[in-house]
Amino acid sequence: MKAFEFPSNFTFGVADADLQVIGEAACVRDEDAQPTMWSAFAAEGRTWNSDSPARGIDRFHHWKRDADLMVSHGIRHYRTSVSMSRLLRADGGVNKKAVEWYRAYWSYLRERGVTIYATLYHWELPQSLVDKGGWLSQESIAMFITHAVVVHEHLGDLIDQYFTLNEPWCATMLSYHQGKHAPGHTSLRDALLAAHNILLASGLAMRELLSKDPSLKIGVVLNSQAHYAASASDADLRAQRVADCYFNRWFYDPLFLGRYPEEILPVFEGHLPEISRSDMETIRVGKMMHSLGVNNYCGEIVKADSTRDLGYSSVKLPGGPENDLGWPVFEAPTYPAGLYDILTQFYHSYRDHGLKRVYITENGMALRSNFDAEGRLLPDIRRIDYYRHHLQQVYDAKLAGVPIEGYFAWTLMDNYEWAEGYRPEGCFGLVHVDRETLERTPKESLRWFSQVMANGKAPY
Ligand code: FCB
Repeated sequence: MKAFEFPSNFTFGVADADLQVIGEAACVRDEDAQPTMWSAFAAEGRTWNSDSPARGIDRFHHWKRDADLMVSHGIRHYRTSVSMSRLLRADGGVNKKAVEWYRAYWSYLRERGVTIYATLYHWELPQSLVDKGGWLSQESIAMFITHAVVVHEHLGDLIDQYFTLNEPWCATMLSYHQGKHAPGHTSLRDALLAAHNILLASGLAMRELLSKDPSLKIGVVLNSQAHYAASASDADLRAQRVADCYFNRWFYDPLFLGRYPEEILPVFEGHLPEISRSDMETIRVGKMMHSLGVNNYCGEIVKADSTRDLGYSSVKLPGGPENDLGWPVFEAPTYPAGLYDILTQFYHSYRDHGLKRVYITENGMALRSNFDAEGRLLPDIRRIDYYRHHLQQVYDAKLAGVPIEGYFAWTLMDNYEWAEGYRPEGCFGLVHVDRETLERTPKESLRWFSQVMANGKAPY
């Protein structure tokens, strides 16, 4: 088996997102936070078991203990998000109580040597904005810029690096075209408008922050997934290009090249919003970006399929490794090295257009926890195996010249997995969280990853 040894200046950390952990109900009750779109979506029965983020893992109350757990396991870099629904009132005013909460939590971590990487939007849109059109509306753009400025003014001294958006593909295509995430529209036209607006919001916010302080380190976190054709037929090869455009390049190309990818325009015809040249100039921030955040979980093999609106569908290879949510995990022996492929593809496509630094901002494995007869947690060997394979691919890509500076495991603790709710198969944590008691128990994978963080190499 191959092995890796990362240099000592390589950044290792863990990631989570506010709404998945915080416990929205406590924020609404005790902090006057606004309810998010996810509570409304869950109330419509559109999540697994109608699970909502109301309880989360109650980070709201347990932040100190959770921070202690992080520090005692050698975590030095922490990517998380600042919720718009908590920080801003519906009229755009600042919610002081939320500012105090973030300051207390992050100051405590920083005093203990943990660096904060803050995502400004990890899907915490207030329902009040969804009622006005969500990402279809200019009001969300304006509110996002206000949010970015408020974060910088009130929390900026605690933040090392910013990311404007988390996974705009999920926030728009999955949420407005496929209807699987809140607010759950099923319209390609809505999705393309939402995607344009969210990219504009990101570009405007980044420019606004950099005009206040040009030394800020700001990036964008994108969904990144390798796509392969199921066969070498022309139709399948074309399908592969469309899939890559839909999932990756619709977001990558505008950021770095200032245009949407042409290959997919015939498929999107009739659904596109009006796109002005000046919008595209605003969106193109590649050269200003401190880093690109790459989130990767799986990959996709596609074949031509004329019954589908995009003209292709997914194929699963029989016997291929999957996580417990059924997502094909791209590692040997069945699948190629998806993470390596996508990292080299992006680097070589965009390095002449501003891409200078990459962080793997999320990578992880959904796995149900198992217990022995006495109720003790069994080691999560498959998760460790996943991490080992993927870290190897990151290392190989780095050796191949991709300037990868860090890797964040998703996620610290089992949490609210969006449309999958709290289903046991959807747990990505390095720490098990009991759904009844919310007790935290470190998994074997956390012990393993602690050693990787300390030594740059796998203990086994
Ligand atoms: C990503 C999200 C993250 C988490 C993982 C499993 O798409 O950014 O919040 O849900 O998937």
